Amino acid sequence: MSSPGMTATIGDSRILMGNSFNRLPELVSKDNLVVVTDKIVGDLYKDQLADFRFIKIGTGERSKTLRTVEGIYEYFLEQKVDRTSYVVGLGGGLVTDVTGFAASTYMRGIRFGFVPTTLLSQVDASLGGKNGVNLRGLKNMIGIIKQPEFCLIDFNFLNTLPREQIISGMAEVVKCGAISDKNLFEYVEINCEEILDLNESKLEHVVSSAIAVKMNVVRQDEMEKGERMKLNFGHTLGHAIEKVTGIPHGYAVSVGMVAASRLSNAKGLLGRDELDRIEELLKRIGLPTRIDADVEEVFGAMSSDKKSAGDSVNMILLNGIGNSAIVRIQKEDLRKSIEGVCT
Ligand SMILES: NC(=O)c1ccc[n+]([C@@H]2O[C@H](COP(=O)([O-])OP(=O)(O)OC[C@H]3O[C@@H](n4cnc5c(N)ncnc54)[C@H](O)[C@@H]3O)[C@@H](O)[C@H]2O)c1
Ligand SMILES: [Zn+2]
Repeated sequence: MSSPGMTATIGDSRILMGNSFNRLPELVSKDNLVVVTDKIVGDLYKDQLADFRFIKIGTGERSKTLRTVEGIYEYFLEQKVDRTSYVVGLGGGLVTDVTGFAASTYMRGIRFGFVPTTLLSQVDASLGGKNGVNLRGLKNMIGIIKQPEFCLIDFNFLNTLPREQIISGMAEVVKCGAISDKNLFEYVEINCEEILDLNESKLEHVVSSAIAVKMNVVRQDEMEKGERMKLNFGHTLGHAIEKVTGIPHGYAVSVGMVAASRLSNAKGLLGRDELDRIEELLKRIGLPTRIDADVEEVFGAMSSDKKSAGDSVNMILLNGIGNSAIVRIQKEDLRKSIEGVCT
């Protein structure tokens, strides 16, 4: 999956990478298509969207609601969208999550594909089939699992993306390397600066490798009964930090990965040198390794997470870089590891 302009089929999803957005009319007839985007992406790319029917939803997690989905259904009705129509979500992970959910539930499900426009959505959110919305501030409480028919990964969109968002997306790339692809981790160590400067061939290498990691795991365990949980490396804590501090997802996951890596080291699973390499790489990318947050608040937010019940939690720890395991951790151990990354 590493040649420029590559095409791959993973599970039910066809992935086109490179200069792929202009191939949309080849895949879906324009008359049949409605696009869902958000206000920022819709305004930035209004010229490219001029030929299409489209709706713009709000930005930010507060827009990721059933109310927004209802607005999309109403737009579909006005546009006479039916089971022969096709929906495309063009935007970051918020847009693709909401669009996939709306398309999969409208008239019991119509066809859909994605054009992810953030690095995070290109490497993570747009693939794997999880679609949904938040409920009362609880993330992704309502949702379904359905794979998009296609995903057009076009790096041109990243040129307008704030650098902070590129850095945030890189956290997921490091995660994929850390949990199951040592070569990817080492590639990022060697090429970090050029990737951040959006060198296309380097980007293509890391994005396709990260997608391969994710889809390998998803193929084994689409419904998240076991293996898929490995993609949550850094996320148990990351989600709690994100909730408490409001920092971008990847930044919070970075701190979560540091805590989980240190725990892996404390349990004798990860060598000191490998722990140092992980922290060093995250810092070079511009990601935080600690955070100014109240330990109790983070711990409380973690305990209210839907995936956490009882005295212990399942955590993903590293068995060396490129290897991961699901380990049951006492919440008290977790509290200590939170103390280690909070100032
Ligand atoms: N389904 C999954 O498996 C999965 C995985 C990870 C994250 N997610 C979800 O993804 C969401 C986060 O996604 P995200 O990080 O892409 O954030 P996002 O979709 O909120 O986008 C971040 C910001 O960037 C803007 N933007 C998007 N593309 C742009 C571009 N090309 N140029 C300039 N601005 C652009 C957006 O308008 C938004 O303001 C969360 O809701 C999260 O729950 C889902
Ligand atoms: Zn994530």
